[in-house]
Amino acid sequence: DKGVHKHFMAKEIHEQPTVMSYALSQYTAADRAAVALPGIAVDFTGFDRVVMVACGTAHLACHVAKYWFEQLARIPVEIEVASEFRYREPPVAPRTLAIFVSQSGETADTLAALRYMRGRAAAIAAVVNVLESSIARESDLVFPIHAGVEVGVASTKAFTCQLTVLAALAILAARQNGRIDAAREAELVSALESVPAAMAQVLAHEEVYGPLCWELSKASDVLFLGRGAMYPLALEGALKLKEISYIHAEGYASGELKHGPIALIDETVPVIVLAPSDALFDKTVSNMQEVMARGGRILLVTDQAGLSRASEGLWQSLRLPPVDPFVAPILYAVPAQLLAYHTAVTKGTDVDQPRNLAKSVTVE
Ligand code: F6R
Repeated sequence: DKGVHKHFMAKEIHEQPTVMSYALSQYTAADRAAVALPGIAVDFTGFDRVVMVACGTAHLACHVAKYWFEQLARIPVEIEVASEFRYREPPVAPRTLAIFVSQSGETADTLAALRYMRGRAAAIAAVVNVLESSIARESDLVFPIHAGVEVGVASTKAFTCQLTVLAALAILAARQNGRIDAAREAELVSALESVPAAMAQVLAHEEVYGPLCWELSKASDVLFLGRGAMYPLALEGALKLKEISYIHAEGYASGELKHGPIALIDETVPVIVLAPSDALFDKTVSNMQEVMARGGRILLVTDQAGLSRASEGLWQSLRLPPVDPFVAPILYAVPAQLLAYHTAVTKGTDVDQPRNLAKSVTVE
């Protein structure tokens, strides 16, 4: 049932404040000052490295988590696309934790990668939405994301709930490795706690996306840029847009712009920059100036502080509530989804059932 919404995708985008709050409540202690796993024992001091394997949007959740685990817990993380990983048959170091992320828990390549790791990794963990799935059944540790049924083919609420669970695991790993104290842990948990309300604020101002996406719908190519943990969000923004609006879109690390993609820049290619005001913001501003100097049109997605530092010469902007940079990738998923959704609606494409795509890819 779509309720008041025109599409399941819209409904699922709007459910995110609620499902994220619930997912977080399942991974935090009653006083909300620390991470607490729901009856699952995991000791990250027993692992020297983490390998995360997934496909599509779930792979991009792993990509964000790599930044979190490496920065907070100082554990080396490799991220892998399941279809490459399984056929490459890589050597696996002992004391490796393998984490498989999958909404459906049935993606054929991810499942095959899991079976490859059986007997090679020290432990196999699954971050899944569907608990009765093959991937959940074949894992030693199962971390449910509690997103509820996701019907829209383009993944939305599963992505933000995957991020929520992976963020909680990264905080836990940081604590177990002695990298954060209780006060810092409370701060990180409170940053996560602040996201659902910030998402609700973004969703309350959804009317700004209509006119913006009418402009975007005329483009035949769109670039998304991001730095640090916002780089995977640039990839996710591009994936969502191409999936449901059929507009060609690419995501790049902002710093890679001058190594090739800048050749594409002219006034016909909108460049969407996902950049909360964080430690890397000024670097991104100089990348934006390079785009503008070549006649490129920039849509900057940032917060008030970001806009006050870099509003000059922008084509368009979206202002988001300020959040701790740690959780920005979760919040910035929402405008990325809304940009794709409203562009697709403007173009009249089949948002919930995009051509050639299936919700669960059970054949390779
Ligand atoms: C993109 C999308 C797909 C899935 C991918 C993995 O919007 O939905 O890229 O993320 O097919 O599916 P799961 O998570 O079920 O393994």
